[in-house]
Amino acid sequence: MYTGLLHSHKLFVLLFLLHYVAKLVLLLLNRNEQLAKYSKITKVPEMILSFGFLATGIGMLVSGATLSTLLTVKVICVLASIPLAIIGFKKGNKILAFVAVFLIVMSYGLAEMNKKAKTGAKVDTSAIEDPIIAGKLIYANKCAQCHGQIGNGGVSGAKDLSLTKLTDDEKKLLIRSGKNAMPGFKEDVLTDADLNAVVQYVATLKQ
Ligand code: HEC
Repeated sequence: MYTGLLHSHKLFVLLFLLHYVAKLVLLLLNRNEQLAKYSKITKVPEMILSFGFLATGIGMLVSGATLSTLLTVKVICVLASIPLAIIGFKKGNKILAFVAVFLIVMSYGLAEMNKKAKTGAKVDTSAIEDPIIAGKLIYANKCAQCHGQIGNGGVSGAKDLSLTKLTDDEKKLLIRSGKNAMPGFKEDVLTDADLNAVVQYVATLKQ
C-alpha cells in the first residue's frame, strides 16, 4: 500500500513539475498567447494532477510516514508554492511563478535528503565480538523503526523480515542500495563487518 502510494506520488510530482516548467518557460519567454492556450487545454489534467499529487502525499503521511523536520519543511514548501503559482501565473508575474516552481523542485531535493537522513550515524560495534550480538544492536538502532523489533514491523511498506526469501548476498545488496522507502546504508554508516553482522542477525528472525 505505502509503496504503491510512493510510486504514484513520484509519478504525479514528476508530471506536475514538467507541466509547471512548461508553463514557466512560456511565461519567461513572453509567449502569453501560447501560455493562455496551453493553460486552457491543460486545465482539467492539471486539476487531476494536483489532486493526485496532494492525495497520495496525504495518504503517505496518514499511513505512517514520520513527519521529520525535513519533511515538515518540504510540506510547507509545497503548500506555499500553490498560492504563489496561482497568483504568479494569473498575473503573469515571472518572479512569483519562478519562486513557485523553484519551491517544488526544492521539495524534491528535500525528500531525497530526508531519505538519506534516515540512515543516521554509525553504531559503534568495535567492542562486540559476537556478530549476532553486534547485528542485534545495529538492527535495534537502524532497522527496527521500520521493520519492528522482531522483523514484522511494516512501517512505510517495510517487508516482513521473518518471511524474507532473499539470500544473504541479495539482502546485502539491497541494504547497501536501498529500495523504495528503504534508504541505502553505505560504508560510512555500516561497515562490511556490520553489514555481515546485521544480515546474520536478520537470519535469526526467520520463523
Ligand atoms: C525507513 C524505513 C526502513 C529502514 C530504516 C530499514 N528498512 Fe529495510 N525495508 C524497508 C522497506 C520499505 C522495504 C521494502 C522495499 C521494497 O521491496 O519495496 C524494506 C526491505 C528490506 C529487505 C528485503 C526484504 C524482502 O524480502 O524483500 C531487507 C532484507 C531489509 N529491508 C533489511 C533492512 C535492514 C537490515 C535494515 C537496517 C540496517 C533496514 N532494512 C532498515 C524499509 C526500511
